[in-house]
Amino acid sequence: MLAGRRIVLGVTGGVAAFKAAYLARRLVEAGAVLRVVMTRSALEFLGPQTMAAITGTPPLTELFGPDTVSPHTELAAWADAVVVAPATAATLARMASGESDDLLVATILAFEGPVVVAPAMHTEMWEHPATRRNVAMLAGDGVRLVGPVSGALAGGDEGLGRMAEPEDVVAAVVAVLSGSDLSGWKVLVSAGGTREPVDPVRYIGNRSSGKMGNAIALAAARRGATVTLVTTAPPPHHPAITVIAVETAAEMAAAVWGAAPHSDVAVLAAAVADFRPAAPAPTKLRRSAGPPDLVLEPTPDILAGVAALRPRPFLVGFAAETGPASGASEKVAAKGVDLLIANDVTAPGAGFGGDTNAVTVLTPAGAVEEWPLQSKESIADRLWDRIVEVRSH
Ligand code: CTP
Repeated sequence: MLAGRRIVLGVTGGVAAFKAAYLARRLVEAGAVLRVVMTRSALEFLGPQTMAAITGTPPLTELFGPDTVSPHTELAAWADAVVVAPATAATLARMASGESDDLLVATILAFEGPVVVAPAMHTEMWEHPATRRNVAMLAGDGVRLVGPVSGALAGGDEGLGRMAEPEDVVAAVVAVLSGSDLSGWKVLVSAGGTREPVDPVRYIGNRSSGKMGNAIALAAARRGATVTLVTTAPPPHHPAITVIAVETAAEMAAAVWGAAPHSDVAVLAAAVADFRPAAPAPTKLRRSAGPPDLVLEPTPDILAGVAALRPRPFLVGFAAETGPASGASEKVAAKGVDLLIANDVTAPGAGFGGDTNAVTVLTPAGAVEEWPLQSKESIADRLWDRIVEVRSH
């Protein structure tokens, strides 16, 4: 899987540092050649001898020393990928601002290849605006984030902030090293919530922010795909993303149906209105006229239109549920999709507006997988990993 690939594993100072030992073992088992860099605080949590025994070479800890003149540039020139796991809030901050006064961040700054980061910290630290800003900056710089996920934290606490499992970090390293693994793919993504006019001033809408669809479009573009993003929300900027701004279900249907026949994969993440006012008022409805009789009519089923195409793109649908995704297993068959991503939009940390999501992934063959609470960027990359896997079989 990673035969002969040269990886710098950066370990920073958190309780999850013990997981770095498992991760190092997994990377070595996958065939990678490892050089480990430990920060000073990492040494408080994990003995360098453990990493030396796993990798066959003592970890490096200092930027300055008698052995080499410029360890950071040597490591950066040597490596195919840099992985930081666990990454503390402090390391994320220093990476985001380019504060390269230790060996790890100096190596990352001198390195031009892919960087994978697995954050681990307490929920409050992960959710602090400073960390949110730093994570957004790093994602914007092309750093691949894995997790964090929800679960037991240091000191008996529970919540979002736990480092992703070593297997998931390895999968992300494999994905980034396969480089532009979506190169040549034409991808269509829908995002945001539709707005159906009641009159020129008001509309019927929903709480979708477009963040999940945006993350999916951006991850695809970064991995080499050419992306058409049909959206009602402010879009991300990337040279490989063409944005078609829409507002209503009918406009979204026209744009999606126009692009779908030329697409290899369609991910329909938008929250589309099922019904719209049949006759929107041409002028503002007046309070003095009393409550209006709103007659609704169905909107086009955009997903069904794409599912009916022959040939049709690989099709991913979303299902917003209020409660456990029990209705989703019927939807996966009924909608003719290749994958259905269901989420309970009422669950804490999941659903509309936030930066995180927890989803259930269903296939028509009946496979069901739970992807625990993690950043929308992390869900997006995991989705593309899965699509690559399914499409290559
Ligand atoms: N969708 C669509 N066109 C619509 C409504 C929904 O293409 N008019 C798509 C969404 O983009 C999503 C999927 O269908 O990918 C499922 O949306 P959801 O609202 O969960 O499904 P519904 O079929 O509307 O089911 P229900 O309202 O019964 O939960």
